[in-house]
Amino acid sequence: MSEYHESWDALPEAVRDAHRALASLKEEIEAIDWYHQRVALAGDVDLKAALAHNRDEEVEHACMMVEWLRRNMPAWDEALRVFLFSEGPLTEVEEKFRQGEAAAKISGSLGIGGLKERK
Ligand SMILES: [Fe+2]
Repeated sequence: MSEYHESWDALPEAVRDAHRALASLKEEIEAIDWYHQRVALAGDVDLKAALAHNRDEEVEHACMMVEWLRRNMPAWDEALRVFLFSEGPLTEVEEKFRQGEAAAKISGSLGIGGLKERK
């Protein structure tokens, strides 16, 4: 178990599972990258299609790991809620999200949301 930076025996089971998910995510992402490169250069049309199919399945596997991490490590949930399906420059997404949160708090404290729901 050379991948561990701390004593495996000392790690709580939840941390061990998180490590398993993170290690799996790394492996899936590596596979996506490898397949993606092979798809780009494969000459045979059938091989290219099969490699693309396999690559896209690895994307599903990676997403499953991300979802598990979201459900089990709060920082993932918070970050994914900020960044996924956002628009505009990635470096500005978090600031815009926080501004939206602040605006929602203000309108909530003024009862605007409550008035809208009563219509
Ligand atoms: Fe996979």
